[in-house]
Amino acid sequence: MAYKFPDNFYWGGATAANQFEGGWNEDGKGASTSDHLTGGSVDEPRRFTKVIDPDAYYPSHEAIDFYHHYKEDIAMFAEMGFKMFRLSINWTRLYPQGDEIEPNIKGVTFYRNVFEECKKYGIEPLVTISHYEMPYGLCEKYGGWRSRKCVDFYLNYCKTLFTEYKGLVKYWLTFNEINCGMHAFGGLMSLGILPEEDCVMNLYGNNTPEALNVRLNALHHQFIASAKAVQLGHEIDPNNQIGCMIAGNASYPYTCNPKDILKSQQFMQMNNYYCADVQVRGEYPPFAKRYWDENGITLQMETGDEAVLKAGKVDFCSFSYYMSACTTVDPTAAKTAGNVIMGIKNPYLKASDWGWQIDPEGLRYYLNEIYNRYRVPLMVVENGLGAVDTLEADGSIHDEYRIQYMREHIRQMGEAIKDGVDLIAYTPWGCIDLVSASTGEMKKRYGFIYVDKNNDGTGSMRRLKKDSFAWYKQVIKTNGESLD
Ligand code: BG6
Repeated sequence: MAYKFPDNFYWGGATAANQFEGGWNEDGKGASTSDHLTGGSVDEPRRFTKVIDPDAYYPSHEAIDFYHHYKEDIAMFAEMGFKMFRLSINWTRLYPQGDEIEPNIKGVTFYRNVFEECKKYGIEPLVTISHYEMPYGLCEKYGGWRSRKCVDFYLNYCKTLFTEYKGLVKYWLTFNEINCGMHAFGGLMSLGILPEEDCVMNLYGNNTPEALNVRLNALHHQFIASAKAVQLGHEIDPNNQIGCMIAGNASYPYTCNPKDILKSQQFMQMNNYYCADVQVRGEYPPFAKRYWDENGITLQMETGDEAVLKAGKVDFCSFSYYMSACTTVDPTAAKTAGNVIMGIKNPYLKASDWGWQIDPEGLRYYLNEIYNRYRVPLMVVENGLGAVDTLEADGSIHDEYRIQYMREHIRQMGEAIKDGVDLIAYTPWGCIDLVSASTGEMKKRYGFIYVDKNNDGTGSMRRLKKDSFAWYKQVIKTNGESLD
């Protein structure tokens, strides 16, 4: 079966500053929320500390040191044939505390150098403006996105980006996985709401009605900021294409019990469409009001907010997709782990070592759902298999399991394109090994490029090609035809 990807399809890879850049306090950079999270593992949760503890290990501080390796890393992406490279800007490299008027010039220069390096190879940057980090100063002083003041600070930061990188960057994402802010996990990571005390990073719990109310209001501020950023970006450069980014949470009803069907539909609504509707259609969806009423949510909607949302609709929609899960009313059904939220185990699917269920067809299903709802170009900006890789004595890494995962997912993207979906880009996650967001470890690797760095921070930082490197290079070279 032949797969026909569009001629100008953006094949590439994705990263995020707080997980790969390092240089956390170099050249005037300030601390961000993620700099206060320690390492962890699948069994031991990460911890948040208010003060940086000199005896603890914070993986973002050095990460894989893209800050000093960017030329070498971009050259390797170019060797694979990347057409697009997704990275995020570390807000605190430009605005160390977040509320300064003028940016830190050294930070501005660093990203200019990175974008010029991409340009040298004809790689289009896809820039996430805020990816799971915000200036710690904004969290301490203003309570993070709880405060509307953050809209202005964010816009000042965006203005710098759109002006300084005009002509170098065309594609932008306003917030990474913005729907994560609806969940306990996103309070700190996404919305900059600091816990009162040092604590373990709670992935799935702590969903009191009060906390939910705070988060949905903070999220509303992000929607306003995103909509204003879209307008500003278009004013500064009409060539700018600005998108939203949601965590793709594909859900299937666990059984054909109508109660499961309804519950799954409600899951899809609240975990995908609540945010994407605001950003793509410029308005809250009809089901939102009932949800607010029944969950004690009082949304602080100010005069003019509705018009701002309408005027700031995004140009395209992007999402991450790693897995699917089931939904049921049966409280005894077995649960499965996942990125952002837990779901019910699907007996037809296998799972990764971290318990994320592998479902390539789910990607085709999800692409169809999203495209037929929104009819704007789509990008899959994260996808991949977090796995333990073995570095052989001769420096090779045989990651056939990763190739298999990706081959099946890319084939399903090809099917979705045949279904009529306007898919324009694919940037699989962690194209170079980086720190895991949920567990803070290096052992969970996604890359085509292996980085010799361990969970405890030891390692030579050497970059090595995995078997998947040559495989993906061939996929790109043949524009997907090698998948047949
Ligand atoms: C997404 C995030 O949820 O999943 C990334 O946008 C993250 O930042 C990715 O790294 C994979 O999750 P993890 O926990 O395996 O790193």
